[in-house]
Amino acid sequence: MSFAALFALVSLVAVARAAPTTTCSDGTVVSNSVCCDFIPLAQDLQDTIFMNDCGEDAHEAIRLTFHDAVAISRSLGPAAGGGADGSMLLFPTVEPNFSANNGISDSVNNLIPFMAKHPTISAGDLVQFAGTVALSNCPGAPQLAFLAGRPNQTIAAIDGLIPEPQDSVTKILERFDDAGGFTPFEVVSLLASHSIARADKVDETIDAAPFDSTPFTFDTQVFLEVLLKGTGFPGTDNNTGEVASPLPLTSGNDTGELRLQSDFALARDGRTACFWQGFVNKQDFMAQSFKSAMEKLAVLGHNPASMIDCSDVVPVPKPAVNNPASFPASTSPDDLELSCFLEPFPSLSVDPGATQTLIPHCSSGGEDCPSVQFAGPA
Ligand code: HEM
Repeated sequence: MSFAALFALVSLVAVARAAPTTTCSDGTVVSNSVCCDFIPLAQDLQDTIFMNDCGEDAHEAIRLTFHDAVAISRSLGPAAGGGADGSMLLFPTVEPNFSANNGISDSVNNLIPFMAKHPTISAGDLVQFAGTVALSNCPGAPQLAFLAGRPNQTIAAIDGLIPEPQDSVTKILERFDDAGGFTPFEVVSLLASHSIARADKVDETIDAAPFDSTPFTFDTQVFLEVLLKGTGFPGTDNNTGEVASPLPLTSGNDTGELRLQSDFALARDGRTACFWQGFVNKQDFMAQSFKSAMEKLAVLGHNPASMIDCSDVVPVPKPAVNNPASFPASTSPDDLELSCFLEPFPSLSVDPGATQTLIPHCSSGGEDCPSVQFAGPA
């Protein structure tokens, strides 16, 4: 057979095997017509709730994806919960009332009207798809895959399946393993979500306290800041699940940073510290690791092979900003509390601000680490 004939044959086979496509009414080409319904849903979510912003409503929708999905147990069996099944929306007077879900009802109430407005989309698909749309508003976030097909036939999950900030590292790792076989690396990867997080409920005396100094961008700053020595509390001291943060000062309308005990512990525990530290200033690595772990979380309780890949309709996220990570003004490498020494800690700049000491290329000081004084406006 001549080369030309062989080429023509290979091309024919390729065309024959190409995945079928459908063109939705807005012109978007998708692999399955089921996916078309998610295009107006994305628009409606943006116009009605998120406003194309990585703000409070987007953060809450992303938290909801986790609290809906993780409520499943390999050891307790199907009666414990159906995983990423939309049970938060289907049983809004049950799961949102569990104490570990404190604050989740804002996102539940935001999404419930969409079940009637977009009746072809199940509650479980709505929760996870809303999370992918919300995440796309956060600069630096990965574009998540989205698989459709979570049925509405499910049950309310039992209480006690959502990790809490006062839980030990052992309890947290066991819970994630029981929920879906998540490894310690995947658990730390999922906590990249706390780069865009704030707390309303841990200390109710203050408003929306951020977990890092850049809470509206998906970046590695949270992995750096949780490693810094804690100096105080943004509001009242020692709330359950809270430990001292490195940036506690509240001034004007700006609430100081709040630190979860669980983030603090995971950043320092021998099973997870190297993974935590390994994300500092590694934007792409962090984003890709988060993407893999989130895509696993989003299908808990389902067989991905029998779902429909609608990744074509997930919006493209905004590009990264706030890269590289940097020590916030008033902090320095001297404040690092490192417990992993497998890799040198990255060399990072210190933001201008109050007088502080920078020790370039050093993680924990020493004779070879010259001190450089930074003086700037407080
Ligand atoms: C060890 C596991 C985790 C614990 C103990 C934990 C705990 C918390 C707590 C206590 C809050 C503050 C809630 C409030 O007071 O308003 C919070 C916020 C948040 N969490 Fe987690 N979380 C964990 C894992 C995750 C995961 C896997 C995700 C991924 C989707 C996630 C996403 C978020 C988001 C986006 C917020 C911010 C919500 C907002 O700003 O309104 N969390 N988390």
